[in-house]
Amino acid sequence: MPVTILAIESSCDETSASVCVDGKILSNFIANQAIHERFGGVVPELASRAHMQNIVPVVSEALKTAGISPSGLDAIAFTQAPGLIGSLLVGSQFAKSMALGLGKPLIAVHHMQAHVLANLIPERRPSFPFLCLTVSGGHTQIVLCQSPSRLTILGETIDDAAGEAFDKSAKLLGLPYPGGPLIDKYAKTGNPDRFRFPEPKIAGLDFSFSGLKTSILYFLQNAGTSLVYKEEFRATEEERKTFIETNLPDICASIQQRIVTILLNKLKKAAEETGINELCLAGGVSANSGLRESFGQLGRDKGWNTYIPAFEYCTDNAAMIAITGYHKFLAGDFAPLSVGTAARAEF
Ligand code: KG4
Ligand code: ZN
Repeated sequence: MPVTILAIESSCDETSASVCVDGKILSNFIANQAIHERFGGVVPELASRAHMQNIVPVVSEALKTAGISPSGLDAIAFTQAPGLIGSLLVGSQFAKSMALGLGKPLIAVHHMQAHVLANLIPERRPSFPFLCLTVSGGHTQIVLCQSPSRLTILGETIDDAAGEAFDKSAKLLGLPYPGGPLIDKYAKTGNPDRFRFPEPKIAGLDFSFSGLKTSILYFLQNAGTSLVYKEEFRATEEERKTFIETNLPDICASIQQRIVTILLNKLKKAAEETGINELCLAGGVSANSGLRESFGQLGRDKGWNTYIPAFEYCTDNAAMIAITGYHKFLAGDFAPLSVGTAARAEF
């Protein structure tokens, strides 16, 4: 008997639903919330309200596209944690109501585990054990994945996430939120070796991006003359603006290159230390073209296998919840209807 799962993702500002049959994704419908752009970041209260409006049409669309009726479902999976609590509650209550109404089991999914397991969606997939660099707006982790249910964090950021590093740098450059994709766009025509931002010296496999952010702040305040703060280096507002306008592609390319080398140097270290040569990317920042290119190059240089999910499975989406839900279904890992949600949680 095929296993058919409906999955719901609502952890942040995307309302998404997906249907998968035996691990094959039949639909993955995502409603973005444009409302946050004008506030320069996600506003939790507005996100919850938008989920309330979106959830019924998004789930209906996912079922319709997949050609599956609710009675044909075997289980309902949903994102339980981590995320914005109000947003998580909308998806979890909807999933619970469906499970209760249909008399089907409920599957609670960890959002970060799902980002990693998005690598199991394509036909060309990594073999276990593999390492996954998960890079999103809220997380930066190197995860050892020994099976769909055995995941261990080997390293993570001690301050900002990689996506935040992109978005905060973009904000300093006067670019709108989320600035990551814009840095990527401008970097395409820039010289990445023009400006040299420092690489933090953090022991082990952990990451840090706050020092980079501070050096970019001073660099811009000084109109490119120095990376450190000194009153006499400080440029006027006019000089700062002109410097950014005339050098935007080179600044973006240099920032992007530094973020990418910080990420990949640690992933390389993890691969060398563990001897695992199956490497995956996950999370919204894996849409970054500089990261994708350098990641592929690292694999070719070292003879390692590299995997990146399709773009729609990298940013927040319900297909990754569905594939995780499918593996949990096979393992008989179901949740009671009383299960809660959590803003923070370990795998
Ligand atoms: O995984 P995601 O969609 O949401 C969560 O944070 O869970 O990741 C969003 C992050 C944002 O910080 C966004 O700026 C970044 O991914 N991002 C990018 C690119 N596309 C998305 N950063 C750099 N280059 C991109 N092309
Ligand atoms: Zn995410």
